[in-house]
Amino acid sequence: MKTTQLLIIKDIQEDFEKIKIAAGMIRSGGLVAIPTETVYGLGANALDPQAVKGIFEAKGRPQDNPLIIHIACTQDAQKYAKNIPDSFYRLAQQFWPGPLTMIVPKRDCIPIETSGGLQTVAIRQPSHPVARAIIQQAGVPIAAPSANLSGKPSGTTAAHCMADFDGKIDAVVDAGSCQFGVESTVLSLAGDVPELLRPGAVTPEQIRSVVGELKINPAVVSRLEEGAVAASPGMKYKHYSPKATVIILDGDREDYLRFVNGQDQEGVFALCFEEDIADLKKPFVVYGRQNDDLTQARELFYALRELDQRGAQVVYARCPSKVGVGLAVYNRLLRAAGFEVKKI
Ligand code: TXA
Ligand code: MG
Repeated sequence: MKTTQLLIIKDIQEDFEKIKIAAGMIRSGGLVAIPTETVYGLGANALDPQAVKGIFEAKGRPQDNPLIIHIACTQDAQKYAKNIPDSFYRLAQQFWPGPLTMIVPKRDCIPIETSGGLQTVAIRQPSHPVARAIIQQAGVPIAAPSANLSGKPSGTTAAHCMADFDGKIDAVVDAGSCQFGVESTVLSLAGDVPELLRPGAVTPEQIRSVVGELKINPAVVSRLEEGAVAASPGMKYKHYSPKATVIILDGDREDYLRFVNGQDQEGVFALCFEEDIADLKKPFVVYGRQNDDLTQARELFYALRELDQRGAQVVYARCPSKVGVGLAVYNRLLRAAGFEVKKI
């Protein structure tokens, strides 16, 4: 057991000593959960194979699932990647710092542990000021998957990180809850045509406006077929799942309310929008507002964890819009539901 320090950052200037402590831990091979604008990340020095192994152990993450490296300035990308296409820089210009991860061929300095055995590397420049300060102070790229035990909903608060990693990592840096609440958009630039591997707050429409043609990997909205090779190893694994059985109800609001109110099993919960509360006769957990995909994204993982805490057994979820940031919300909810969608 380690003693996990909680480093609370209220003001980046006044609390700069704590940023330095976190950065020092990472530089010297430690594991630190750090806030980003998407979700909390479990960070380690991306260039240190031993430290990176620690991430996999703490999360219980399969070793073939590669990590994203986080950098503080766009120019650093060329230290870790090669054959970087022009589209990378055009996208970086538009969306960095921010919730976009781009995959390009890796250089040898990126250990195979970090890239999960692949010859490519995923790179992101986060916008969260605390994340940026920690990367800068550490002076190394930070490998950071979402800060959650493998298979569980990603951590969006320091309390989530503590719940999953207390006693297993060196520190948790607490800077409040995350702006977006779902992980970054993952885009591969390693093939002929840019390909969306995971939707996020940077939408397909926004990416197309910069690169023109964009492929959407089929696994974004459907179950990977048995034996198929995943473009992104993360697609293969069960994810975001609370203990309850989650079923997405795809239909309009009236049908949703009628269906849920008509259930009489024990432990039924609604995972619904704020507007639904007044008309529901079952226990519920809210994830955002009906026509506001940003609030849905921000609250989804929090809501999934809350369902566990409240002992939900069967959860009927309202279906998000599937466009814009709604596609990211739908993608996460689909995985939480093990792809169970019921048309109503
Ligand atoms: O917002 C985020 O992206 C957060 C924060 C902490 O930055 N990080 C995050 O990391 O979500 P993780 O490891 O939970 O998800 C990264 C995804 C995984 O599905 C992984 O398989 C995929 O990106 N990935 C990473 N490197 C890849 C590569 N070289 N080729 C294909 N997929 C890759
Ligand atoms: Mg993750």
